[in-house]
Amino acid sequence: MAFPSHRPRRLRQSAAMRRLVAETRLHPADLILPVFVREGISEPVAITSMPGVVQHTQDTLRRAASEAVELGVGGIMLFGIPEKRDAMGSASLDPEGVLNRGIRAVKSEVGSDIVVMSDLCLDEFTDHGHCGVLTADGAVDNDATLEIYGQMGVAQAEAGADMVGPSGMMDGQVAVIRQAMDDAGRQDTAILAYAAKYSSAFYGPFREAVDSQLTGDRKTYQMDPANRREALLEVSLDLDEGADLVMVKPAMSYLDILRDVAESAFERGVPVSAYQISGEYAMIEAAAANGWIDRDAAVAESVLSIRRAGADTVLTYWAAELARWIKEGR
Ligand code: PBG
Repeated sequence: MAFPSHRPRRLRQSAAMRRLVAETRLHPADLILPVFVREGISEPVAITSMPGVVQHTQDTLRRAASEAVELGVGGIMLFGIPEKRDAMGSASLDPEGVLNRGIRAVKSEVGSDIVVMSDLCLDEFTDHGHCGVLTADGAVDNDATLEIYGQMGVAQAEAGADMVGPSGMMDGQVAVIRQAMDDAGRQDTAILAYAAKYSSAFYGPFREAVDSQLTGDRKTYQMDPANRREALLEVSLDLDEGADLVMVKPAMSYLDILRDVAESAFERGVPVSAYQISGEYAMIEAAAANGWIDRDAAVAESVLSIRRAGADTVLTYWAAELARWIKEGR
């Protein structure tokens, strides 16, 4: 009888053996927790399509941030939901606007113990729900939007953001934000560029989370899911414009893109992030609620696969929970 000359199963025979040879590990510091803060509420409001995720008050936001610090989570990304919206998204520039207040509250709570990040985009602030301002005939006006993004960058930096995350996919946004922040003496505020952000159906639950006013879609500015090469173009433009880190979003349906971006970012020497978005979260929670998958195992496997594909850091709504499991040695 001929025995197999190679037996890969040898290294799989015990948990200790598997742990020793694991190529990828999750660490709390590699995780970034996205959080929502809403104006005009006195209690947190549950987001139905994202079980376990809430819209925070300024108060509970602080608590969530300090909990993330205790768990060793690497970063926290803030999204704001204003009470009043207008065509220009002006609440985004108001130092007393919900997001800028949230940044200040979190920063004063956590200091430098976690990286404080903020979403830099107009969609939560406009009454039409687009990521930019509109021309007279209703198209998204790239260059008029850039001007506002620059001012948003400064406002968020002044509120205390360590890192801003431009997510609107306007051409030239990173350069304009970098320039505006530099001119305002905010050279130290970093930019996490949503470099390859696709127009995805999986953003669905996020629209509930931020009470989105959007009708229609974002296909004239977010990327076409059919395209792979174009992601490398977007990444290289953002790096030329001064991005400090680049992100791929969504994550799970775009692991091939993430791999490509990780390779090109390696050549350029920059870290890569991936955003496991609302719909990815909702799908796993929904299947688990039906008893169709093992929730905890699916959560861990999904985030591990994103790290394995090439993400140095992962934005995930499970960041705090995962960090707790890791801390507890699960
Ligand atoms: C835009 C923005 C969106 C998300 C993050 N930033 C929504 C969109 O592009 O439509 C989605 C995040 C998620 O689905 O979890 N400000």
